Amino acid sequence: MAGVEGRVVVVTGAGGGLGRQHALLFAERGARVVVNDLGGARDGTGGGSDMADAVVAEITAAGGEAVANYDSVATAEGGEAVVRGALDAFGAVDVVVNNAGILRDVTFAKMTDEQWDAVVKVHLYGTYHVTHAAWPHFREQGFGRVIVTTSTSGLYGNFGQANYGAAKLAVVGLINTLALEGRKYGITANAVAPIAATRMTSDVMPEDMLAQLDPAYVSPLVVHLASEECADTGEVVLAGGGHYARVHYMQAAGVRFDHVPGIDELAAKWTAVIDMADAELGRPLNG
Ligand code: NAI
Repeated sequence: MAGVEGRVVVVTGAGGGLGRQHALLFAERGARVVVNDLGGARDGTGGGSDMADAVVAEITAAGGEAVANYDSVATAEGGEAVVRGALDAFGAVDVVVNNAGILRDVTFAKMTDEQWDAVVKVHLYGTYHVTHAAWPHFREQGFGRVIVTTSTSGLYGNFGQANYGAAKLAVVGLINTLALEGRKYGITANAVAPIAATRMTSDVMPEDMLAQLDPAYVSPLVVHLASEECADTGEVVLAGGGHYARVHYMQAAGVRFDHVPGIDELAAKWTAVIDMADAELGRPLNG
C-alpha cells in the first residue's frame, strides 16, 4: 500500500478550515475518510450536520469515499463514536488527525473556569478521546498514524491564549510519549503546527498576511505524516504559506555540580546554565 491509498482516516473538525483541506487531500489520494465536525461556531457553541455533510458531498462528487460524523470530540462517548463511525463505514481505522478546535481568547487575569475548561476539553481531551479509542485498533493491526494539531501559541506563547496555548502544548507532550509507546507496534505520532487563513484566524492576522496563508498548504504535510512511507515519529513540524520546518527543543550544555550548589553559587554560573551555544536536541531521559 503506497501513501494513504485505501487507508481509513478520521479527520476531526473537518467541516471547514484546515480539517476540510486535509479531508479533501486524503480522499484525493485514495483514502476513505470520516469527516467529523460538530458544526458549531468558532467558540464551540451550537452545532449541526451541515458542515460535515457539505465536505462529504464535495468528496463524493469528486469520486472519493467519505462519511460524515457529527459527534463532539470533547467527551469520551463522542471520541468513541467518531472511531466507531470509521469501523462501521469502512471496517477499520488507520489514521487519526486530531484537528478539531475552538477559541475562547481572554487575558489570564479575566479568564473564567468555563473558558479554561471549554478550550482544554476540545483540544486536549478531544485529542485524547479520539486517539485513545483508535489506539487498540492500531496496536492490533501493527499500523497506526496519530497526528495532533499544535500551535505556535502553545510552542512559544500568545497574548490572550493561556487556555489555548496550554492545551496546544499538552498535545505535544502526548505525542512525545505515544511515539515511544507506539514504536514497536508500527504506530507513529507527530504534531503539525499550522499557520493558515481560516475563520479561527480571520481577525488575528492582517489581510495581506492571510492572503498568503491558504490552508491547503498545510495538508500535504499531514498526508505525508500519515503515509506508509513516513516512519518519523515524535516530531513537530510547522507549516504555513509554503514554509515547512521542524520544531524541536534544544538543551544547553549547561553546568554540572558534584554537590548541591548554594543559591549564590548557581547564580554565579547562570550565564553558562542558559547559554545555548553548545545546545543539543533534547531527548527522553531513557532515550
Ligand atoms: P476552524 O474553526 O475553521 O476549524 C475547527 C473545526 O473544528 C470547526 O469546523 C469546528 O466546527 C470543529 N470543532 C470544534 N469543536 C469541535 C468538537 N468538540 N468536536 C468536533 N469538531 C469540533 O479553524 P482552523 O484554523 O481550521 O483550525 C483547525 C485546527 O488547527 C485547530 O486545532 C486549531 O487550533 C489549529 N490551528 C490553526 C491555526 C491557524 O492558523 N488557522 C494555527 C494553529 C493551530
